Amino acid sequence: IDELLAEGVTGRRVFVRADLNVPLDGTTITDDGRIRAVVPTVKALADAGARVVVASHLGRPKGAPDPAFSLAPAAARLGELLGADVAFATDTVGESARATVAGLADGQVAVIENLRFNPGETAKDDAERGAFADQLAELADTYVGDGFGAVHRKHASVFDLPARLPHAAGYLIATEVGVLKKLTDEAKSPYAVVLGGAKVSDKLGVIDHLLDKADRILIGGGMAYTFLKAQGYEVGTSLLQEDQVQVVQDYLRRAEAKGVEFVLPVDVVTAAAFPDLGAKAATHPATVTAAEIPADQMGLDIGPETRKLYASKLADAATIFWNGPMGVFEHPDYAEGTRSVAQGLLDSSAFTVVGGGDSAAAVRLLGFDENAFGHISTGGGASLEYLEGKTLPGLAALED
Ligand code: 3PG
Repeated sequence: IDELLAEGVTGRRVFVRADLNVPLDGTTITDDGRIRAVVPTVKALADAGARVVVASHLGRPKGAPDPAFSLAPAAARLGELLGADVAFATDTVGESARATVAGLADGQVAVIENLRFNPGETAKDDAERGAFADQLAELADTYVGDGFGAVHRKHASVFDLPARLPHAAGYLIATEVGVLKKLTDEAKSPYAVVLGGAKVSDKLGVIDHLLDKADRILIGGGMAYTFLKAQGYEVGTSLLQEDQVQVVQDYLRRAEAKGVEFVLPVDVVTAAAFPDLGAKAATHPATVTAAEIPADQMGLDIGPETRKLYASKLADAATIFWNGPMGVFEHPDYAEGTRSVAQGLLDSSAFTVVGGGDSAAAVRLLGFDENAFGHISTGGGASLEYLEGKTLPGLAALED
């Protein structure tokens, strides 16, 4: 983007593919991290006199307009953060978008409606995606890719559109890639990885890759119960991916052969049912050892002994990557595990990276100062796929 700015962008229509896929409670944004993350790029372009067209997806609408997934709240928040009026087009490539873009003065910013209201955005068929990219290309003269959270998607606005316009990477993508490089090629030892979240199957690729890079892998969250089952424990009614138990057993064997330490919960916080996250009423949690989870209880957080153990495994690390909460952090009865891992990152002198929407949101929701961490990635799936060593369509499209 610096080269683009040096060339001069006054009067140019610059399409910024952002990731404004923020969590919403109705029309209230509950975490605006992703909007704040794209402000430097949008501001630099606007300050340089460009007519900035910001585009993004939000959620997973079914290829048609759906008010529940409107980008209007995100556009309003972007305006607040920029301290400027931001125009909003109520469609993506239709009359409203064309008129809104045509009405922009130099230095003004517009947001167009959710890209996924059009089936062409996510189409598997190249021609269908290409046709939508052609329509998007009519709105702009130049493309800036800055939606890091979506670069793993082969979607029209991420992959096909940059091929149709002169293009550059924005500041956010440059920062994210710079940080993730440090975790792949240049990670300093001891390298500790903390993985949580619901599903083991989402993390298999990254675990596979990390077996050659990491020194220790700490497991928490819903996925921990498939690991405990793989070690022969009964897990009651906890989340369990039965079909992954053998795969996990294979990983545990391979890790041992490679000298990578897998650290699993030694105790867990359980309850009879999943807590009500709306009311956040007090529940009746119990703490049991990992070997003694009752048949009618589910694990919802790592226990106090595990927290101590994990803190000790993070204390002397030189590099830490953390993706995925340790428990149901949205409910105060099950937030301690996630809080203690966040604290463990802060207490160590390691280079720390928090990856993924949920862990990033957890850090902010639990009241931590996000600036205290080395880096909080805006990409969940994108950062995991990067660490898996995959080619990411949205980065490949910007590289030539
Ligand atoms: C994310 O939230 O990880 C990105 O915005 C991508 O969203 P998606 O998983 O719906 O493609």
